[in-house]
Amino acid sequence: PLRLAVLASGRGSNLQAIADAIAAGDLAAELVGVFSDKPGAFALERARRLGVHALAVRPRDFASRPAHDEHLFSQIDAVCPDVIVCAGYMRLLSEPVVTARQGRIINIHPSLLPAFKGLHTHQQALDAGAGVHGASVHYVTPELDGGPVVTQVRVPVEPGDDAERLAQRVLAQEHPLLLATLRLLATGRVQLAGSAHGSRVELDGQPLSA
Ligand code: GAR
Repeated sequence: PLRLAVLASGRGSNLQAIADAIAAGDLAAELVGVFSDKPGAFALERARRLGVHALAVRPRDFASRPAHDEHLFSQIDAVCPDVIVCAGYMRLLSEPVVTARQGRIINIHPSLLPAFKGLHTHQQALDAGAGVHGASVHYVTPELDGGPVVTQVRVPVEPGDDAERLAQRVLAQEHPLLLATLRLLATGRVQLAGSAHGSRVELDGQPLSA
């Protein structure tokens, strides 16, 4: 089974979806650790309830962002994950930790990338008058929310939507999207190919267009 480490800063509903799918026999994976920048993150509590290794590494205990990231990722490496899933991890990752693990870190982002990178994506979509919104799973590269997209789900914007309502409908689609993506990665047929600059996703060695 695919060894998964999850990075999460908050609620952890995507983490829970992974755990539930594994428990139900719907995902051939093992959760080998949950990591956070926030000691109070509910994701860590979920991990403890699941009996999964849970660890917070606080940024303020380190002199710099790279120093925090290096320590955090040394702890992640210690559980030997095949794939590191950022699921609501709300901190930017510094270049060296990402480059050293290129092709092994994925992130779920609540927009149809490349549209609406960064924070407050649902409000961004509403402000832009988007008719269709959604979520993406992409490989993490040093560019914020800029790595190659593996999978996406589209969610129509409905009349009367506010950011919260839209976020809820997108979140409901994020869980199956993330599970489908992890099943795809578990086949070993999908890979990040190319260099840090010209990277792309390949399926069976052929470029995949999202
Ligand atoms: C999810 O909507 C995820 O896409 C988003 O945070 C939420 C976490 O929910 N991630 C980002 O915005 C990353 N920039 P969860 O903690 O319940 O899984």
